[in-house]
Amino acid sequence: MFKDKKIVFSGVQPTGVLTLGNYLGALRNFSAFSDEYHCYYCVVDEHAITVRQDPGELRRRTYDMIALYIACGLDPERNTLFVQSHVPAHAELSWILNCFTMFGELSRMTQFKDKSKKNADNVNAGLFTYPVLMASDILLYQTDLVPVGSDQKQHLELSRVIAERFNHVFSDTFTVPEPYIPKTGAKIMSLADPTKKMSKSDENENAVVRILDPRDVIIKKFKRAVTDSGSEIKRAPGKDGVGNLMTVYSVFTGKSDREIEKEFEGKGYGDFKAAVGEVCADALAPVQAEFARLSADKKYLEEVMKKGAEEAGYNARRTLAKVRRKVGFIDLPRD
Ligand code: TRP
Repeated sequence: MFKDKKIVFSGVQPTGVLTLGNYLGALRNFSAFSDEYHCYYCVVDEHAITVRQDPGELRRRTYDMIALYIACGLDPERNTLFVQSHVPAHAELSWILNCFTMFGELSRMTQFKDKSKKNADNVNAGLFTYPVLMASDILLYQTDLVPVGSDQKQHLELSRVIAERFNHVFSDTFTVPEPYIPKTGAKIMSLADPTKKMSKSDENENAVVRILDPRDVIIKKFKRAVTDSGSEIKRAPGKDGVGNLMTVYSVFTGKSDREIEKEFEGKGYGDFKAAVGEVCADALAPVQAEFARLSADKKYLEEVMKKGAEEAGYNARRTLAKVRRKVGFIDLPRD
């Protein structure tokens, strides 16, 4: 495949609402990527149904995720924004790659073990082969780089193993993807336990600020954020909670730690938390307004999905055709 730019692939499940951590750690920086890379942003609805979903809710969240991506600054003209189930090649390649993935490898996936415990009444085969579908997402586009959080590293490593195995059995077919660790982007921790990353699936709603939380909720959540027993606004060992709030404040205001420490000298945690809540709510307001505007325009969102699926489908079919030939499937003449 001719490539003038390196390819980045990122997948997000249309479950839960994205958090401030997703925004500051990833989304906000995505728009700058498109100069340097060709980026695919895929809403992975097929992955979502490995656990039970309410169908209406899943559909709504899929629209929402596309709208939110655009609202966060991703330009659908410069990036390929699409929905996984709109490109059948994902499911097709996934079957083929299932036959190149070992039972033992999948059994060792820690996310499978965790999710099986959490959903003990529904340990379905899809949950087990989830990483193979993820490998298919990535490998279909000859992806060079995959931005992944620590929870997805093991899955990406397996994608590499599958790609190398297939390339070895046949001949070079897939680009072997690398993890992409962004140079910029802040890591935001849970407001309830600042030693843990802020996660969109956290059960404690006070631990996460969501991009679409209303202003008063954002301010309330920051007010409740866990800090330590001291009172100084200072980044220091053992002061993870304060440090996390300083990171948020710093990203939104552009101020350095020193400047923040000076600004809040002699003031208490209460004042600081209120200030962090304010700047965060101010910064998210335009994203929320744009989201509201876009989500009211279903027709536009469907146009974006359609264009994305066509672009993605074109490139996916090229890889799939290569794979089909290598494994020995018959391609019927087209006439
Ligand atoms: N498994 C990822 C998650 O839950 C989502 C995902 C699916 C993904 N396919 C992907 C991420 C491909 C990166 C690349 O977060």
